Amino acid sequence: MFPVIDLFAGPGGLNEGFSSVRDERGDFVFKTLASFEMDSLACQTLRLRATYRDLVRSGGDVQPYFDYIQGKKTWQSVLTGDFRAAYLAAKAHVYQVELGEDNRPEVDTFIERQLGPENERGHWALIGGPPCQAYSLAGRSRRTGDESFALDHKHFLYREYLHILGKFKPTIFVMENVKGLLSSKNGDSSMFQTILSDLKRLPGGASYEIRSLVVDAKPDDLNPSDFIIRSEDYGVPQRRHRVILLGVRTDVAAKTPRRVLAKADGAVTVRAALQTMPSVRAALSSRRPKTDLDWREVETEALDAIQRMPEGTKPEPMKAGTLAVDEYEAWIHDERLVKPIQHEPRAHMVSDLARYRVMASLAERLGKSPKYTDLPTTLHPEHNNVGRVGTPFTDRFRVQVWDAPSTTVVSHISKDGHYYIHPDAEQARSFTVREAARLQSFPDNYFFEGPRTQQFHQVGNAVPPLLSKQIGEIVADLLTSLQGN
Ligand SMILES: C[S@@+](CC[C@H](N)C(=O)[O-])C[C@H]1O[C@@H](n2cnc3c(N)ncnc32)[C@H](O)[C@@H]1O
Repeated sequence: MFPVIDLFAGPGGLNEGFSSVRDERGDFVFKTLASFEMDSLACQTLRLRATYRDLVRSGGDVQPYFDYIQGKKTWQSVLTGDFRAAYLAAKAHVYQVELGEDNRPEVDTFIERQLGPENERGHWALIGGPPCQAYSLAGRSRRTGDESFALDHKHFLYREYLHILGKFKPTIFVMENVKGLLSSKNGDSSMFQTILSDLKRLPGGASYEIRSLVVDAKPDDLNPSDFIIRSEDYGVPQRRHRVILLGVRTDVAAKTPRRVLAKADGAVTVRAALQTMPSVRAALSSRRPKTDLDWREVETEALDAIQRMPEGTKPEPMKAGTLAVDEYEAWIHDERLVKPIQHEPRAHMVSDLARYRVMASLAERLGKSPKYTDLPTTLHPEHNNVGRVGTPFTDRFRVQVWDAPSTTVVSHISKDGHYYIHPDAEQARSFTVREAARLQSFPDNYFFEGPRTQQFHQVGNAVPPLLSKQIGEIVADLLTSLQGN
């Protein structure tokens, strides 16, 4: 098995894909030697998942895992026997630490220990993405005019990644980031170009050939946009566009084939992803709206408004890819679960329920999310209820339509659900954690630790595992081609 080290590991989306890659004999190809993450709940999620994986790989009893994630047994009561042993092993490689200059010595020592003596190390891969808030367009717009932004240490966390590349020289690395990285600037220079040139002259003399995972061209012929991966092209039911770099150490690059991801045969839509989820209704929040709405009146007014709306031109539903949907379902599904886990709806205010219901009905009619201004005025929010500062309130509500992949599931989904309104008007609610997880292509048996806000946060942060599995297959091919070299 090829060792993997995961930096800024989050809840482990990237790692989940790599960990599931098997060779033609059905054997697992990668083994994670270390995951580094500073958030304690994300670390708990990582440890639990690593425990499950260990049990699967060793043929141990996975029932305690299923009992725990379905709430049938407490943590204390499952923590015995094989499960306990697997958990202790997981605990030993999931390292909670804030990566940064101050902690480099302890991180380096840990990596050194996990990789073993230098002369005995085979080929291995470094994966992960330095945190993205500093580059994301939303993060940048929120901090326009804030001088400390240019000095934000998060701009420079990629240097921790580069430090580890330079010191430990993995054969291959995969680095993920938001699309905003391509347009982000540090002073006058482009962050992206700075990172690329830093990768060409790393401390310790290592250097990497940077390849695209979607455009088959020589490194010198690649444009920045060639590094953008559109998750929806690869069987993920979500339009999530990220910059992903594949680095191959220069001394071995010429001996490896150039490989790119194979596009799926069509889209996996929200309908394909969510149609098997049981319907659930949102509870009412104890926060009362300032003006109490009469539900029936609103409903009547809304239905009238819907009737009066011109038919317009409905966008064509996206072509669903039969093979892509089959593959997605096989990946998500687990018959050992009695019912979906983490599928409890959030509580909403009555006024929001009315908006969700009406907007979802309109979306069904229009084939796309309606604009907020299409709503009857009784459903327009009072200004103190509009939400994030700086976002025009007309853009604050969005229905995720049935016949297309969803928009990007971001970690801000933890704050409010207005942007993730369920397309079924009858359910009148925003997405649950499990629905968000499905749009991110997390298998149904993947459990996120912590309170619901943190679960959402973890889901929104991750690389879609079904995409990372395909990236892992490419990395596996490249590393295999080097065996014996
Ligand atoms: C975008 S998420 C990573 C997602 C992950 N690659 C996945 O696929 O699930 C970035 C993660 O970096 C973590 N993080 C941010 N700064 C960090 C630091 N200095 N050291 C360690 N982890 C950090 C955050 O807590 C967050 O979980």
